[in-house]
Amino acid sequence: MSAASSYPAWNTLHVGDNLDVLPRIPAGSVDVVYTDPPYNTGNDFAYADRFRDGSHADPYAGRHAAWTAMMRPRLQAVRAALAPHGAVFVSIDDNEAAHLRLLMDEVFGEANFLAQVVVNLNPKGRQLGRGFATSHEYVLAYARHLPSCLVDGSTTEAVDEADFPLVTPDGRRFRYLPLRNTNKKFNPVSAPTLHYPLHGDPETGRVSVTAFDGSTALTPVFGDGRPAVWRWSRPRVEERPDDLECRVIRGRSGERADIFQRDWLHREGGRRRKLRTIWLAEEIGSTDTAVAELKALVGHVFESPKPTGLVRRILSMLPPDAVVLDPFAGSGTTGHAVALANVADGGTRRCLSINSAEPTREGSNARLAGLATVADITRARLAAVADRVGGGLEVVLESPDIR
Ligand SMILES: C[S@@+](CC[C@H](N)C(=O)[O-])C[C@H]1O[C@@H](n2cnc3c(N)ncnc32)[C@H](O)[C@@H]1O
Repeated sequence: MSAASSYPAWNTLHVGDNLDVLPRIPAGSVDVVYTDPPYNTGNDFAYADRFRDGSHADPYAGRHAAWTAMMRPRLQAVRAALAPHGAVFVSIDDNEAAHLRLLMDEVFGEANFLAQVVVNLNPKGRQLGRGFATSHEYVLAYARHLPSCLVDGSTTEAVDEADFPLVTPDGRRFRYLPLRNTNKKFNPVSAPTLHYPLHGDPETGRVSVTAFDGSTALTPVFGDGRPAVWRWSRPRVEERPDDLECRVIRGRSGERADIFQRDWLHREGGRRRKLRTIWLAEEIGSTDTAVAELKALVGHVFESPKPTGLVRRILSMLPPDAVVLDPFAGSGTTGHAVALANVADGGTRRCLSINSAEPTREGSNARLAGLATVADITRARLAAVADRVGGGLEVVLESPDIR
């Protein structure tokens, strides 16, 4: 991942239509794309969010067709910019979620689907209108090529200390995990080398592969008494006997001794946990958090920005020198998140943001604040990020008539 070193600043903003800018990004040079395209809500935001094709008899069909026609060539250009090990994460809500999923299957291939994450950005739920108080939207994730994909769907951030309730006298937190494999697919027929006797003493807790004074021989069994297998091989038990403990437990058929792994909270190399596909506002922030983050830097000049925590969670799945691209940058959340992540872990990530110089809506907060185009909003935030967080900002104007 050396492409990061070819960008002098942490943040680069390209002002222009992403369809013109994307083909100029060297093919295969981007590690991860996070983006949040117009959702086609029909609302009046600082930017246009209404795509309609009047040639369809059914207005819904026309709406989806126009949006899909806008997105298809842009996603194709995103795919070309991605490295073979890269991945793309796209935010979307119910307006176009179904159409985006089919479009991404078409452009990236169904075989490269990673996840459709539910993102709980509005924990109280939307109170306007009829029906449900919608409290979530989605992030659709696809690999450029799943077998080579670098995305690690786990994070150190998601580990919850409360899951490790026990503490040794010297203060190390742990929990007990049964050494027996509880998955019924694994049994003495499917994994014969893992079915063997271990020797344990529940008085002292000691476990060994060979018998010792006071030990009892234990073979793994399922709750219903059928033979099971251990999760660890004999050599592994020999290497780490101190991470195992023989204890008495109360099973369906009364008390019996069994063997447990002491699973430590702090492991060598760090402990990672697989990310679930529901991301809560309390973990990544909400739309309210995002509005406050933007307000602190530039003002309340953009509707529904994303919280930096959402982008940082995506960044946490990739190496700290990732080249990041956001072709629908809006208020510049992705670039802000990249700078915060670099400061937090000393990383050298680079972020390329693209936003068109579409005029802000007459009378909008942005226009009243003197920001004539949406790209002016992006630039104002990324300049404030460079000032307050660091990393600098390069601005590239797509055509000379853009200010
Ligand atoms: C939903 S907003 C992105 C919000 C952003 N994630 C944030 O947190 O602020 C979509 C953005 O895409 C921009 N946009 C729409 N069409 C574009 C195009 N063809 N090229 C570049 N930017 C575009 C709009 O101006 C708008 O700022």
